[in-house]
Amino acid sequence: MKSVEEIEVKGKTVFLRVDFNVPLDDNLNIRDDTRIRASLPTIKYLVEKGARLVVASHLGRPKGQFNSKMSLKPVSVRLAELLPGVKIIMAPDVIGEEVKRLKAELKEGEILLLENVRFYKQETDNDPEFARQLAEGCQVFINDAFGSCHRAHASVVGIASYLKEKAAGYLLKKEVDYLSKITHNPEKPFVAILGGAKIEDKIPVLEGLINKADVLLIGGAMAYTFLKAQGKQVGKSLVEEDKLEVASSILKKAEASGAKLILPVDHVLTTSIDSQQVVATSDSYPLPEDLMGVDIGPKTIEEYRNQIKTAKTIFWNGPLGVFEVDAFSKGTVEIAKAVAESGALSVVGGGDSIAAIHKAGVAEKISHISTGGGASLEYVGYGTLPGIEALK
Ligand code: 3PG
Repeated sequence: MKSVEEIEVKGKTVFLRVDFNVPLDDNLNIRDDTRIRASLPTIKYLVEKGARLVVASHLGRPKGQFNSKMSLKPVSVRLAELLPGVKIIMAPDVIGEEVKRLKAELKEGEILLLENVRFYKQETDNDPEFARQLAEGCQVFINDAFGSCHRAHASVVGIASYLKEKAAGYLLKKEVDYLSKITHNPEKPFVAILGGAKIEDKIPVLEGLINKADVLLIGGAMAYTFLKAQGKQVGKSLVEEDKLEVASSILKKAEASGAKLILPVDHVLTTSIDSQQVVATSDSYPLPEDLMGVDIGPKTIEEYRNQIKTAKTIFWNGPLGVFEVDAFSKGTVEIAKAVAESGALSVVGGGDSIAAIHKAGVAEKISHISTGGGASLEYVGYGTLPGIEALK
């Protein structure tokens, strides 16, 4: 995979795919512009080198329909604030005659921001004709959209067949550098921490990590599916009944591979998430029938902390409890602190784990905070991503 600096871009029209999928509030204000800032080094480099820049992104999941609530207009305003002196033109569409004309009229160092590529169903279908129209008028493809690289979509994968000169932007390069280090050559011991509600989203990463990590620490609601698969009675805790077999098979594979897959040994319990109140903490089974687990308990925090202390490499994705409720956030915050204090090479991905890192005030001590939740999980699981392969 080439890097952006290896391609001559002066005077060329460059199609730059970024991941500007930022959260918007009800008034369409950007709540967090981290993803826009993350691609600024690539954008600034291309502008300074005299490229004519066509920038494309998705925002949300508009399912192939124009939707003013998912327009990239607020992003163009923010981009202009972040790039004073650079001319930014907001395109009225993604493809079509008007966009073709705007592309042709672009001057060196100017930016044309296309509308949300997912306003067309052909984007998610990776439709070749749509990809051709995206590429039309451009000579170079630069991908800096790490957060979208697990999607085989037209602006991520299909377009690469139409533009011979292609490379990764600085953000994509940095993400791949960190993730490939932990995926292909981790310094041992390698401790992976996986949380979140569903095993379903984590099957590939769990399967991949069983053969790579020395220790897998499990938390969040998905722990209860594993515990039930071991025959434990977990009260009202969230269990994916249709994933019990998968959970059993993962437990068996972990045992066979020698990886230590560790489940919580005690639980913070409540009657319902909405109650926002801790009712009890328990380390014995069965858990009471009318209660559900919503966080790891103090003994689990201690055990996980000890494991994290020994690590030289850490990958973390997903909260260990119902982190958005203060009363149930202690486990996740304590783990964030432990990861920060470990001195290990640490990579954290996924919105909630990143929020936990910020809540614990330890962001500076994390080696790499990934801009891609799903993408970082799939990279670690499969060892590469469709968007990365397309650049090769
Ligand atoms: C993300 O937010 O993880 C990326 O922008 C990808 O979004 P998607 O899950 O809608 O493809």
